[in-house]
Amino acid sequence: MQITLIGTGLMGKPMAERLLGSGHDVVVYNRTPEKAKPLEALGATIAPTATHAIQASPLTIFMVTDAAAIRDIVFPPRGKPNLQGRTILQMGTIAPGESVALAQEVRVGIGDYLEAPVLGSIAEVRAGQLIVMVGGSAPQWDRWVDLLKCFGPEPLLVGPVGHAAGLKLALNQLIASHIAAFSLSLSLIQRLGVDVEVFLKVLRPSPLAAPMFEKKLPRLLDRNYAQPNFPTAHLLKDVNLFLHAAEAANLETSALKGIRSLLEKTLEKGLGEMDYSSLFETVNPRNS
Ligand SMILES: NC(=O)c1ccc[n+]([C@@H]2O[C@H](COP(=O)([O-])OP(=O)(O)OC[C@H]3O[C@@H](n4cnc5c(N)ncnc54)[C@H](OP(=O)(O)O)[C@@H]3O)[C@@H](O)[C@H]2O)c1
Repeated sequence: MQITLIGTGLMGKPMAERLLGSGHDVVVYNRTPEKAKPLEALGATIAPTATHAIQASPLTIFMVTDAAAIRDIVFPPRGKPNLQGRTILQMGTIAPGESVALAQEVRVGIGDYLEAPVLGSIAEVRAGQLIVMVGGSAPQWDRWVDLLKCFGPEPLLVGPVGHAAGLKLALNQLIASHIAAFSLSLSLIQRLGVDVEVFLKVLRPSPLAAPMFEKKLPRLLDRNYAQPNFPTAHLLKDVNLFLHAAEAANLETSALKGIRSLLEKTLEKGLGEMDYSSLFETVNPRNS
C-alpha cells in the first residue's frame, strides 16, 4: 500500500523506516528537507511539498509537533490539498478538543480523519512495540488496524476521535508527575548523604516503585540528558495540553501547575531539547 508520512522528526523518521521495512511504498515530507533525505536511500519518495505528499496516497500519517503544525500543513492559506478520498491519521500528541476540531474540518473538506497517538519512544518504534491507541469509528478501525500493527502488536480502539487523544494526555501527565516526584526524593536522599543504593533497596520492592524510576536513574545520577528520546519542550507542551483539558473538566490542577513551573524553568536553562529528565537540574541545581 502507498502511504504518506509527514514529519520525519525523532519519531516520524523511524516510523517511516518501519513502514518501509514492512513492504509499504512510502512518500515522506518534512518541513526541513534534510531530515527526510536519509529515507530516500531506504526507498522512500520525498515529496516536494506537503500538498503533493497528501495527494500522493490514500492515507497520510501525521507525526508533527502539535495541532497548529497539522493545521498549517492541511489547511495552508494557498494551495490547499484536495482531501476527497484521503484519510488523515494523526499519531502525535495533541489535545482531545483539537483532534475533534481537526476531524470536523477534514470532514468538511470531504476527507476522513482518525487519531492513533502512541505510548513509547524511539526504541519502541524500532522494535514495533509502541502502544497504539485509536480514536475513530468501527469502520475506520477495520480499515486501518492491520497497518497500525506495523507500529505496535496490539492497537487498541479506545473510542471516538478525542478519546485516544485524552488517554494519551492522561499517560503523559503521569510521565511529568513521576519524573518530578522521583527527582525530588532522589535529590533529598543525595543532599542528606543517605546511600542511594539503600534508598533503592527499600523503594524497589515497595508499591511505590515505578519502572521509569530505574530507567531514568542513570541519567539523573550522571546528570546526562543528551540524545533525548522525548525532549523537555515536548513534555511541557503535553502538560499544558493536559492542564487545558483538565481545567475545562473542572479539575483541581495546582499540583500539575507546580510541575509546569519546573518544566518552564528547565527550558529557561536552555534544556528544552534535552531529555525531559533534565527537570532534575531545576529540582536539584548544581553548585547549590
Ligand atoms: N519523542 C517521543 O518519544 C514521542 C513519543 C510519543 C509521542 N510523541 C509526540 O509525537 C509528535 C512528534 O514528536 P517527535 O519527538 O518526533 O518531535 P520532533 O523530533 O520535534 O519532530 C517534530 C516534527 O514536526 C515538524 N513540525 C513542527 N512544526 C511544524 C510546522 N509548523 N510545519 C511543518 N512541520 C512542523 C518538524 O519539522 P522540522 O524538522 O522542519 O522542524 C518535525 O518533523 C509530538 O506530538 C510528540 O509529543 C513523541
